[in-house]
Amino acid sequence: MRRRAFVSACGAAAASFALPGCASLVTHPVTPVNGRASLPLAHYPDLVRAGGSLRVQPSGAAEPVYVLALGGGAYSALSPTCTHRGCTVEIEGAVLRCPCHGSTYDREGAVLVGPAQRPLTRYATTVVRDTLEIDLRSPS
Ligand code: FES
Repeated sequence: MRRRAFVSACGAAAASFALPGCASLVTHPVTPVNGRASLPLAHYPDLVRAGGSLRVQPSGAAEPVYVLALGGGAYSALSPTCTHRGCTVEIEGAVLRCPCHGSTYDREGAVLVGPAQRPLTRYATTVVRDTLEIDLRSPS
């Protein structure tokens, strides 16, 4: 196989594996102020529709945060780190699933299927004047 054909085939294969999970999940860099990340909803259309999701990477943070629209103006902001053994969970529609041993969480981080026993780490969210605020200082 020629190099160009090989690279093209690999790209297509990678895209096909990514599609079910989070093909549209682009990482958005954010700069927290006083430990709070502010996301103006007008700038993040994925958060305006129920079931929408995005991934933000706060500057200086070791890991990104998944931000999920729950519907009715409610949101959750979750660590992507599985509480079983630390793999990165992936958003799969209505659930977040760990590729390592299959733990499954709902969109608020609660365990639906083990082996994980504890929920995903969650950050408090509030909406103030059409801006979603994520408090990164006190995960629970
Ligand atoms: Fe996620 Fe084991 S690390 S299920």
